[in-house]
Amino acid sequence: MQNFDFQNPTRIVFGEGTIAQLSTLVPPAAQVLVLYGGGSVTRNGTLDQVRAALAEGGTRTVHEFAGIEPNPSFETLMRAVAEVRERRIDFLLAVGGGSVIDGTKFVAAAALLPPEEDAWTILQTHGRSITRALPLGTVLTLPATGSEMNSGGVITRRATHDKLGFMSPHTFPRFSVLDPTRTYTLPLRQVANGIVDAYVHIMEQYLTYPADAMVQDRLAEGLLRTLVDIGPRALSEPQNYAIRANFMWTATLALNGLIGAGVPQDWATHMIGHELTALHGIDHGRTLAVVLPALLQVRRDAKRLKLLQYAERVWDLREGSEEERIDAALARTRAFFESLEVPTHLSAYQLDASAIDPLVAQLEKHGMTRLGERRDITPAISRSILEAAL
Ligand code: NZQ
Ligand code: ZN
Repeated sequence: MQNFDFQNPTRIVFGEGTIAQLSTLVPPAAQVLVLYGGGSVTRNGTLDQVRAALAEGGTRTVHEFAGIEPNPSFETLMRAVAEVRERRIDFLLAVGGGSVIDGTKFVAAAALLPPEEDAWTILQTHGRSITRALPLGTVLTLPATGSEMNSGGVITRRATHDKLGFMSPHTFPRFSVLDPTRTYTLPLRQVANGIVDAYVHIMEQYLTYPADAMVQDRLAEGLLRTLVDIGPRALSEPQNYAIRANFMWTATLALNGLIGAGVPQDWATHMIGHELTALHGIDHGRTLAVVLPALLQVRRDAKRLKLLQYAERVWDLREGSEEERIDAALARTRAFFESLEVPTHLSAYQLDASAIDPLVAQLEKHGMTRLGERRDITPAISRSILEAAL
């Protein structure tokens, strides 16, 4: 096991009816800005529950900022930053999915920069320039990204097609409220995206090379098997509390740092996927379903030992030669994504070989030239992965 330093300060308040606890979770005299997306939380009653809870147990002033879009844009978020400064907001509450939470983390950091400083620096330094941030909490409505219990965010600059991530110890949520019933209104497409996103988060931290991390491996395998078990029912039984609760907690554990402590990590699938979203607007989870199977195929020698372990422990594949077991595990992975109606080829998104040059150029522009757990995925290998994904 590699050395590690793990701290996750986010308090999780989990279960049906827990939004009411915002009355004590949010400081009683805070100037609060509630941030949300395009209106799902208005339509499904979540925002009403939030407003009611914030009106209890204090003298808070509550303002709202609506319209944070999927793949949140720098342009929109800078309007929220202006509002935070103008109203002297001192607590941010994100109500929504990963985009709203990521966007709120960015606002929390950007609002405390000197006004003359360019907030895009946060993305250019991948968060290293952040020295402080406003406190924030979240109410999660879409299990997928793990943003509710990690310090990261991904922001898109629409004008230049740049989609970049940041992380900082200052942008962990203070708390996150996870009420599985708040996911019942999710479109099935978003549920499927979320299952794939969580699955690939686990794979990015598990499917590398052996590092004698027995507990991390078993945790990762348990989470993967849980997603395989509950995935179909998360789609077919949208109001099954137990299924949605397990989905929600699995997605959180998939990217809260626990399974990634002390192990090599890949993340090439995500970096290539982000370029697909930036250039072609494909949903984040869907980009991963396209890239991961192709990446595992192209990297099968470098990842051989873990692929064999994955085949045996996640898919119960114990018969046949090594090559046959790896082939079968890759086929099962692809079939799982397809069973959720998430296509796994670029052609399903009307993209052909002519899409590849601009994607590789974007990776180079963003410095993504040494990807993967061994930093040996060059632009030429990223090209091979994209070719394998056609
Ligand atoms: O905008 P509204 O109207 O709220 O609708 C949203 C949005 O259209 C809708 N939705 C959310 N909860 C709902 C609901 N609709 C009905 N009922 C509900 N309960 O779902 C749509 C998608 O929401 P979004 O937040 O964009 O999805 P997701 O949670 O998948 O977040 C994707 C973003 O997170 C980033 C991605 O790159 C992408 O920008 N990621 C963040 C990570 C992190 N912070 O650690 C890691 C991930 O790998 C990922 O990169
Ligand atoms: Zn992801």
